[in-house]
Amino acid sequence: MKITNLRSCFSLAIVGAALFSVNHGWAAYSTDHKDSADRRAEAAVKAMTIDEKISLLHTQVGFPFPIGNTPKPDGAVGSAGYAPGVPRLGIPALQESDASMGVANPSNIRPNDNATALPSSMMLAATFDPELAYQGGRVIGTEAHAKGINVMLAGGVNLVREPRSGRNFENVGDDPLLAGTVGGYAIKGIQSKHVVSTVKHYALNAQETGRVAVSSDIKEGTARESDLLAFELAIEKGQPGSVMTSYNQYNGTYTSENAFLINQVLKGDWKYKGWVMSDWGATASTEKAALAGLDQESGENLDPIIYFGEPLKKAVQEGRVSPERLDDMAMRVVRSLFAVGAVDHPPKLADIDFKAHAKVAKATAEQGIVLLKNDRNQLPLSRTLRRIVLIGSHADAGVLSGGGSAQVTPIGSLVLPVDPYVSQVYHPSSPLKAIQAEAPRAQVVYDSGEDIQRAARLAKGADAVIVFAQQWTTEGVDAPNLSLPDNQDALIEAVAKANPRTTVVLETGGPVKMPWLNRVPAVLEAWYSGAKGGEAIAGVLFGRVNPSGRLPVTFPQDESQLPRPTMRDPSTTTSSPFVIPDEFFSENYNIEGADVGYKWYEREGKKPLFPFGYGLSYTQFKYSNLRAETHGRKLVLSMDVTNRGKAKGIDTPQFYIENPSRKNGFTSRLVGWDRVELKPGHTKRVKVTVDPRLVARFDERFNSWHIHAGSYNVSAGANAMDRPHKTRVRLDERYLAP
Ligand code: BGC
Repeated sequence: MKITNLRSCFSLAIVGAALFSVNHGWAAYSTDHKDSADRRAEAAVKAMTIDEKISLLHTQVGFPFPIGNTPKPDGAVGSAGYAPGVPRLGIPALQESDASMGVANPSNIRPNDNATALPSSMMLAATFDPELAYQGGRVIGTEAHAKGINVMLAGGVNLVREPRSGRNFENVGDDPLLAGTVGGYAIKGIQSKHVVSTVKHYALNAQETGRVAVSSDIKEGTARESDLLAFELAIEKGQPGSVMTSYNQYNGTYTSENAFLINQVLKGDWKYKGWVMSDWGATASTEKAALAGLDQESGENLDPIIYFGEPLKKAVQEGRVSPERLDDMAMRVVRSLFAVGAVDHPPKLADIDFKAHAKVAKATAEQGIVLLKNDRNQLPLSRTLRRIVLIGSHADAGVLSGGGSAQVTPIGSLVLPVDPYVSQVYHPSSPLKAIQAEAPRAQVVYDSGEDIQRAARLAKGADAVIVFAQQWTTEGVDAPNLSLPDNQDALIEAVAKANPRTTVVLETGGPVKMPWLNRVPAVLEAWYSGAKGGEAIAGVLFGRVNPSGRLPVTFPQDESQLPRPTMRDPSTTTSSPFVIPDEFFSENYNIEGADVGYKWYEREGKKPLFPFGYGLSYTQFKYSNLRAETHGRKLVLSMDVTNRGKAKGIDTPQFYIENPSRKNGFTSRLVGWDRVELKPGHTKRVKVTVDPRLVARFDERFNSWHIHAGSYNVSAGANAMDRPHKTRVRLDERYLAP
């Protein structure tokens, strides 16, 4: 089958080349760049043979692949995915690469390739800053473009329903407005550089345990108010050229052949014009998938057959899939390429300004670090300290990153093999060096922390001790629990006992438990902090940077507070796309429903360790004069924010709305926030306009958003659980298109 395809492609390429050379201006589509992407794509698809259309609809792995022993495809730059395009019509090959934190280089296929490692998406979300998301997207888009890549498999916006999930670091928190906004702007940034971005993994891909065997079960209306809303907002804001489905099933049907998710919601209600690709090895059928709305099979090498190759052609020839649907599939791919400018501005090998890109990585890390605790002003540290002890997590060498397909490994990283295929990667930004630079006269010493007693002895008498504690997470595997692994809790306890001036710096994918919290005066959540993480951490520790990060995800006290306290034992199932699971199972997300994260805690009256939106500063902010006003159908909330401390700082005041009615009510939802930088003594009025979907329920019967008439509680404050400023607003009944 493959050989026939190659032969016909080859002969078509010759004919195409001839057409191009005899009539230089010839093209099936208009070359007028002002012509719309739709019209140009339509004309291009009209000129394609059935084989050319089909060739756009399945991608191979773009590097040598051990299963089936396939070499790197001819023409591939060496990245996650490749399809040859239709050169005779000027449609470029698809060169697809991971992902949201920078351009990956799987198995070092592009030797000496360097890339900027941005902080984890979770850390980006902690900045609450769409502009930084956009700037980070531009960094990724620029680097992709300069490496010959035109599709980035970025844009993870799955809500954190399972704080133990191995991929939380690739996503943007547990709130749909925050996730959709930050995710959307990151996508927009990538695409501003003529590189398509995806949004993924559509949808309800909440855990890695049994990701290919699990059905995420949740009522449709409830999904619309939570996980699907995050996608809806990200798509509106970012206009991604492609949507990637997930490995899991949704309500018993694989997402890649789920007509509700793809045809009804995405392409129907949301009028999405781009193409829908499967995850790698996640296509499960030909006809069913094509008719449900899947446009492209990805990572075909991982599938038992190439579903969207010959079988799709046959299905079209036999009338099981209509020729119009085939055209639509091809059209969607080509349209997105035109829409982002990937045809008119194809990728071009170019030098990369790593210095400029490092500045974006640094700003993101500086603003994404969350100060969780700071008793007795333990921080910032004085630059005149004499002896500083650093302990653990290779803080002499670099900062931890998350593993899996999204892994970015810049040159100079510390790479520690976990097994023959997987390594832990520390980005080359040494906290030790950065701390030494902040306190040039101090003696700064490092201990690995492996020997707890030795570390505690070293800590004794130091002017400051900083324990770096880590939780390495990776695609394909969930954390077994929320504890820091490798006896680090005991290490922190022992060091804090030896020296009360101990600060803990956490490098984690998401939430962890802190049984030692009462025994240390200061804690920073520094996530996976990327290319300049060491400098950013040091900057916050010494006050060069006033911390402004806010938690984009709720930190529970312990697992017993979660909607699903125990997880399925990963050893009883598989997360590998190569393996057909022995047994399928479901996760019941109706337990929390749309009340993901902080909403669950509010509903259940539980007090988490740290709530969503939480984060301290070296200054203090005060709020006053909260107002809620309706201007016609527009709902506007506003409030004064004053810096009443002694340092300049950034604050992130947050607005929430709750519908207290028993019948149609909902728990408090984040409906807006602002970020304001204020000098001491200064005040600014912040104002947000509320998206009406955030005060509506999704009514499945009418397939529509429904705002119920009534009085709504408006509150504002510093985080999801500290909202002392309250008012009420009356809203009229209203239905909104889905
Ligand atoms: C991941 C995707 C990724 C793809 C290609 C899959 O295993 O789930 O997020 O884009 O591989 O590397």
